[in-house]
Amino acid sequence: MELTDTASITTLPPSAFAAVMDIATRPPIVFVAGRGSWLTDSTGRDYLDFIQGWAVNCLGHAPPLMLNALRDQAERLINCSPAYYNAPMIALAELLARASGLDQVFLANSGAEANEGAIKLARKWGAKHRDGAYEIITMDHGFHGRTLATMAASGKKQWEKLYEPKVPGFVKVPLNDLAAVAAAIGPRTAAVMLEPIQGEAGVFEAETPYLRALRELTRQRGVLLILDEIQTGIGRTGRLFGFEHAGITPDIMTLAKGLGGGVPLAALVAHGSVCCFEYGDQGGTFCGNPLMAAVGCAVVEEVSKPAFLAHVVQTGAYLTRCLQQLSGQHGCGAIRGKGLLLALDLKRDIAARVVAGALERGLLVNGPRPDSLRFMPALNVSTAEVDLMIGILDEVLGRIIAD
Ligand SMILES: Cc1ncc(COP(=O)(O)O)c(C=O)c1O
Repeated sequence: MELTDTASITTLPPSAFAAVMDIATRPPIVFVAGRGSWLTDSTGRDYLDFIQGWAVNCLGHAPPLMLNALRDQAERLINCSPAYYNAPMIALAELLARASGLDQVFLANSGAEANEGAIKLARKWGAKHRDGAYEIITMDHGFHGRTLATMAASGKKQWEKLYEPKVPGFVKVPLNDLAAVAAAIGPRTAAVMLEPIQGEAGVFEAETPYLRALRELTRQRGVLLILDEIQTGIGRTGRLFGFEHAGITPDIMTLAKGLGGGVPLAALVAHGSVCCFEYGDQGGTFCGNPLMAAVGCAVVEEVSKPAFLAHVVQTGAYLTRCLQQLSGQHGCGAIRGKGLLLALDLKRDIAARVVAGALERGLLVNGPRPDSLRFMPALNVSTAEVDLMIGILDEVLGRIIAD
């Protein structure tokens, strides 16, 4: 694949999308195919994809490994109801339990659904084992999904007045402030919940000493630690799970995005001592369906390989160096993040213009904040593709800053 020289995109009229509910400012392009780090639109134009379904397609677009898993499983069994065990459900649960050091897994379909499960499990545990405790301490600027409870758990300022009344029981504290958590824990507290790296907020890390101290504090005070690894999990940071960098293990972890490599798949993973759902407390028609679980097994087996994770570390370090150089050339700021979840501080509110300029040049990048760009390419992205991306950004930044 290669980038065309066309400076403007062939767009379609608004009437072409009239039946699609208008919930986001989408560019008037229709993608029809994808392979590796590349997407192709309906006019045949290729785009270099550093968004990858929002950090979802960890093996890139249309990886043969996933296509084989989908085909093989579809020929055997697509769905047999979550009321029965199926082979991929058992295999994926075992893989995730073994790899995480946790014990039991509930498979779901989206990150928000997995987090709802984590919230319910913590409330059930609090009801049974901590005298009815139900509150969950979460972080300012955190992001946990778009269901009513996960929106209430999130610390997104724009959502403060949306869909009132909010689900109660969430107490917010600043990230990396251990004293604030210690002060917030009370008799009603069941758990503390956070992302190892706040992705949607703009890639801000929970620092390693903070995570270690938080693990210690939650143990001492008898409350659960829930890590939302929906964006950081499945190799994104160079380890299979983000918490491995801090050498800790949570009581509950949630996964989605990279777990399915592009298909809807999520997981709620918990330590045995916390697994207290009774029959009927938790479920879902598509939860644990064999088709998605088979894909999850193929993805996790691939990403867990030491050579694969080493590539993420190396390419992440290469992308960091390239971004540092670019930042120096254009008077931008620091690079944040780990592995292949990185952000560039632009030092000015020009992210939307850079994203639009990059799109015109055939590059997809995300601006999670007015002053930052986020990079979440396929985990098997090549250094040549990184070079191509940096070349486009260099040109776009130069033009916008000179304006
Ligand atoms: C950390 C985190 N948690 C939860 C979610 C919600 O996942 P989903 O969109 O699959 O519901 C996201 C999505 O961006 C996320 O980044």
